[in-house]
Amino acid sequence: MDLRSHLQLEQSATVAINTLAMEKKKKGERIYNLSAGEPMIDTPDIVIEAVMKAMRDGKTHYPPVAGIPELREQATDWLNATYYANYEVSECVITPGGKFGIYLLLQALIQPGDKVGIIAPYWVSYPSMVKIFGGEPIILETEEIGNPEKPGGIGASWKLEIAELEKAVEQNLRILILNNASNPTGALYSKQELENILRVAHEHHIFVISDEVYSGLVYDGEFISCGSFEEHKENVIVIQSCSKHFAMTGWRVGFAFGPEEIIKILTILLGQTTSGVATASQYAALCALQNASTIIPHVRDAMQKRRNVFMNIYNELFKTNFSYPASALYCFLPIVSLGIKSSDSKQVCTELLDKAGVATVPGIAFGKEGYIRYAFGESEDELKEGLLKIKEYKETV
Ligand SMILES: Cc1ncc(COP(=O)(O)O)c(C=O)c1O
Repeated sequence: MDLRSHLQLEQSATVAINTLAMEKKKKGERIYNLSAGEPMIDTPDIVIEAVMKAMRDGKTHYPPVAGIPELREQATDWLNATYYANYEVSECVITPGGKFGIYLLLQALIQPGDKVGIIAPYWVSYPSMVKIFGGEPIILETEEIGNPEKPGGIGASWKLEIAELEKAVEQNLRILILNNASNPTGALYSKQELENILRVAHEHHIFVISDEVYSGLVYDGEFISCGSFEEHKENVIVIQSCSKHFAMTGWRVGFAFGPEEIIKILTILLGQTTSGVATASQYAALCALQNASTIIPHVRDAMQKRRNVFMNIYNELFKTNFSYPASALYCFLPIVSLGIKSSDSKQVCTELLDKAGVATVPGIAFGKEGYIRYAFGESEDELKEGLLKIKEYKETV
């Protein structure tokens, strides 16, 4: 059978390492999981209670494909009020997680051979998704500005410069995927930076997919949504999710906000694939959004504490002086700062898992060799012990 081998599909690196870590755990090995991109906090009771009530009230049937009307309305109100956007309910669709929203969007937008800009270091799934639909990923490079150990260093780094975007424009870019706040670097774009990027995109008819799933996990600075630029609205789709800032990864609820004709196409694709998002999950999301003003700060404050604990201990153990990432759930740090000479991130991460029992993700999976991504969503004890294990391992090499 022809398995469409030309797609050269790769398993998601984060899913792969996570699966390996789980297998080791199952075998009884003590594993410290610094690889999973999720806040390890249980879904609030109020959400669980709301779902139970919805189930008892008979909300157990197929949902409307685009989402239950109350949720579409609540999500639209939330985005508009929180990030100064101006969407109508008809410009919002509920998707099975932000990931599937991006997948459907690429399916809807890409024509074979289309060039899609991806800013490196990038979220692992973007290049594979683009290839699945016959697009060509164009990698836009970014840099660590100056010394990453200076205050503001890693938060201010790794952002798309206009000159790099203009180079890609010359290659006939059709779509740009912008991830703000960023996985894996925690980079956070200012209003002026976004304005500049959106203006160039608009001038050259480049459609922007703004992946904003970490918008609620911003610790230093202000989050600005691409949905707040009224003059670029026709050119932008905003991807949102309950996974990260509501600590609801397992419920699989995401949102896409954008021009109505694109939302209609996404709805048709949903109708031909999943028939929408599980009804129970939509009621969970509805309750979470109704309580966003308490749940999001709760998750954000817990993650900020974990970020600080992780970075303080790292700096102390490895005698470094890295500043905190401004947002998201990750520290993206050079291998050399561990005092390990190899820059082969896959090899180093494999050894950290096999010999120290610590799961991390190699920088190469995000398009940047010589780095490791550490997730700080786990409990403070888990972070501390994991780092101590890395230090112990490092002493032996
Ligand atoms: C940058 C980015 N976008 C999208 C997603 C998808 O999240 P979900 O499908 O859980 O909403 C993730 C998850 O890790 C992510 O890191």
